[in-house]
Amino acid sequence: MSVTRSVVRGTGSYLPARKMNNRDFEGILETSDEWIQQRTGIRNRHIAAEGETTVSMAEAAARRALDAAGLQPGDIDLIVLATATPDNTFPASAVQLQQRLGITHGFAFDLQAVCSGFVYAVTTADLYLKSGMARRALVIGSETFSRILDWEDRSTCVLFGDGAGALVLEVAEGEGTLADRGVLVSHLRSDGTHHEKLYVDGGPSSTGTVGKLRMEGREVFKHAVGMITDVIEDSFSELGIGPNDIDWFVPHQANRRIIDASAKKLGIAPEKVVTTVQDHGNTSAASIPLALDTAVRDGRVKRGDVVVLEAMGGGFTWGAVVVRW
Ligand code: ACO
Repeated sequence: MSVTRSVVRGTGSYLPARKMNNRDFEGILETSDEWIQQRTGIRNRHIAAEGETTVSMAEAAARRALDAAGLQPGDIDLIVLATATPDNTFPASAVQLQQRLGITHGFAFDLQAVCSGFVYAVTTADLYLKSGMARRALVIGSETFSRILDWEDRSTCVLFGDGAGALVLEVAEGEGTLADRGVLVSHLRSDGTHHEKLYVDGGPSSTGTVGKLRMEGREVFKHAVGMITDVIEDSFSELGIGPNDIDWFVPHQANRRIIDASAKKLGIAPEKVVTTVQDHGNTSAASIPLALDTAVRDGRVKRGDVVVLEAMGGGFTWGAVVVRW
């Protein structure tokens, strides 16, 4: 049976030049390189320079993804930009990006699911492509979390970083089997009863301010592994596959211990796990496309590979996507 699939044509990413390592916090907060590494695996993160924004980083990542795909901006008719840190309350950062790329056809919008934003965005773009409303999509995660951190709160500010990642999805005909290239399955979930465990304490209609990130880290940790493994197991059973049938596990990069525990619970071999949290920190919606682009460019992820993406974040929101590259 012939089916429409959304196939990955190229990836790109961007990191601000300024690096901040754990020792840079030691002079300003009661913390240590050892504490941060032991609890999270993080060593470095990148911080946006003045004038560098979610849209400017998204543009850099998008142009690299277009280059990798051998396409021009004008070939794109859909932009889905996952971000919790848009340049403006409105218009959408995706539309600002569309303007910067010189695209005046098609449509563009932001998607807000915090750290799960990228799996939500891939799923959303996939559905638009399958419906025939668009043919080629830029799917982007771009975040400037450094601007919503409380830099005096050691339990949160050491965890996050800035950056952007993008991929180009294009419609292609498949056979409707597991051998097809493209997005094979997605599972998304959310549950607002966990609001207080991870949120920003401001917003346009509540306080009229941007607000700062607040998190009960231990509570988030407690739920993360169960939620992540649930949606991946649902995806595996829908496809009739198991951990040995996948080539790469590219999780949201929040914490090394969450990544390792999830892979172990699922039975995914450690050598299949792509980890960039040590270099990027938690870049929220940008973390998966940043990790993906790293693994594509260093030659790990290759055409035909089965890649599992997953994320969990504020809301709570969580989800998984399985793609054949
Ligand atoms: N340096 C030194 N000590 C610290 C630091 C720090 N940076 N931060 C907290 N501490 C202290 C705490 O004050 C506490 O001290 P106390 O015992 O004297 O009260 C102690 O360390 C233990 O604090 P916990 O919060 O219980 O530490 P825990 O082992 O849970 O580690 C962490 C904290 C790393 C935040 C962990 O809970 C975690 O990673 N949680 C998941 C967070 C996460 O992944 N969030 C992202 C979700 S995605 C999204 O949507 C944004």
